[in-house]
Amino acid sequence: MDTHADLLGLGSNIWMVLAVSLLLSIAAVVLATLVWWRLHRGRVVAAFPDAADDPPLDQASKLQHEFEKNNRAADDVLINWSPETLRQILATELPDAQVIVVSNREPYIHNLVDGKVKLLVPASGLVSALEPVTRACSGTWIAYGGGSADRLTVDDNDRIQVPPDKPSYVLRRVWLSEEELQGYYYGFANDGLWPLCHIAFTRPIFRASDFEMYEAVNQKFADVVAEEARNERPIVLVQDYHFALLPRMIRQRLPDAIIITFWHIPWPNSEVFSICPWRERILDGLLGSSIVGFHIQFHCNNFTESVDRFLESRIEREDPSISYRGSTTLVHPYPISIEWPPAGFQNQPDAAECRREIFERFGLAPDTRLCVGVERLDYTKGILDRFMALDEFFQKNPDWIGRLVFLQIAAPSRGTLAAYQQLHRQCLNYVDEFNLRYGNDRHKPIILIDEYHRQEDICRVYRAADICVVSSLHDGMNLVAKEFVATRDDEQGVLILSTFAGASRELLDALIVNPYDPSAVGDALLRALCMPAEEQGERMRRMREVVRNNNVYRWAGSMLVDAARLRKRNEAYEAAEPTQRPEVASNVVPLKGKKKGAAR
Ligand code: G6P
Repeated sequence: MDTHADLLGLGSNIWMVLAVSLLLSIAAVVLATLVWWRLHRGRVVAAFPDAADDPPLDQASKLQHEFEKNNRAADDVLINWSPETLRQILATELPDAQVIVVSNREPYIHNLVDGKVKLLVPASGLVSALEPVTRACSGTWIAYGGGSADRLTVDDNDRIQVPPDKPSYVLRRVWLSEEELQGYYYGFANDGLWPLCHIAFTRPIFRASDFEMYEAVNQKFADVVAEEARNERPIVLVQDYHFALLPRMIRQRLPDAIIITFWHIPWPNSEVFSICPWRERILDGLLGSSIVGFHIQFHCNNFTESVDRFLESRIEREDPSISYRGSTTLVHPYPISIEWPPAGFQNQPDAAECRREIFERFGLAPDTRLCVGVERLDYTKGILDRFMALDEFFQKNPDWIGRLVFLQIAAPSRGTLAAYQQLHRQCLNYVDEFNLRYGNDRHKPIILIDEYHRQEDICRVYRAADICVVSSLHDGMNLVAKEFVATRDDEQGVLILSTFAGASRELLDALIVNPYDPSAVGDALLRALCMPAEEQGERMRRMREVVRNNNVYRWAGSMLVDAARLRKRNEAYEAAEPTQRPEVASNVVPLKGKKKGAAR
């Protein structure tokens, strides 16, 4: 019996040892595959700021070391994305590279107010994402100087060191005439491309004169990029739909540059895109880039489909890229984000204090539940739609009338365009009528503030809220959703988020809604109002983790790592025997004289 029992025990021990060994082997294979994949994809670099005391390790062992040390999910610990990570990527992977950012909107605007120069940081998602990145790279940012005191504050070369309180990079301002601004910015970019790319059922308007001006202004910026480039091989980060033609123009001036173009708004399907009279020119311009980036894969697919339909090109779906006119452009998703921790939200009062302040400022009764919305006054944001949902909610749940207030901050934007003026009027009228119906002299269920707010003020609004509503009809990413989450270090508050905002792909613990369905948004409001504190905490913790890990340094870092990958690939191309070279080179290779038949 004993012997039998011993044998049995021994037998089960052997099985256990075998099982454990098998599990360990599987784990090792999974980890090795992950490491190989990350390295192969070029997304991992020697960037481990907190590993300074560790013995020297190669990259793969560093990863494994890090993995074992933290014993957390591998993907979370691979890189702790921070400004330091970006600096290390630049130092190790792209030594001596000059980073040039090009955007329409400048990060710092100087205005003359009552005879004094006043600084304004614009309310723009693009600016809040790129500013910390440019700071970290000590780059050069080229943008339109639109402030009334902008010319007074630059040097003889139209440059100014910013941020004003702690200069770390150069802002080069480009001057545009009223006519240029009208045609390029208001006209083609915002009356044409903006509604074309957003499915918000506002008709795009295309005028040939606007497109001509758009082209001329893109050329003007290309000239400035060439002027600012310190060598032949800068990394140029072109931003957004204001500059669809710019990548090709820069490529002509600086054939060796790495040009990464990020399109901050959605890309429509090819049927919608086909209505643009200059669709081939737009695609051709963008394909001057080494990489074209969108927030989500869906928009990459739409872009690729548009190229497939309108240009003679070869499309590679595995490592998604497009070969066109003898060179290749990668098409990748890079979900944009905010910095973590967000500088603008530091040193702000805690949630309880913010709530006290905001309630006092707007005269709210202590037991009021507060919903907030924060955005530019734009027809893509679904502001009217959320008011209609509130209407439906009050009709279904009249016991909430008098106990719920919606505070809407709507910063005026592009106010000379008819579509924006109309929206502004509609919002004001709707709110007046709504407040008459559901409010009284002392209580206004919707408070609409159509003014610009500073980041610090917005932080207080977020922290004071029970619920934040982001009901965009269509949005590339939407950083308000991420900012709300970032401010809530008390781990309370509910986010209601449109399924048509890119952020809904990441913030899965928000209450995801279809903004076109007022009844569903109303139901989400009720669910949010009734959500126990514990559930709010669990959801908010998970969302904060997502935003912390996928911060803006990861967004920029992934692009820079891909840029380094391209540069290495091209160095290998140049070093290889001509017969050994791949058929089509990447877009950072100057093909002139290098590849037979390459047309540039
Ligand atoms: C939003 C969009 C950006 C765009 C910006 C322009 O933030 O997400 O893609 O660049 O608007 O705003 P502006 O006020 O400069 O026209």
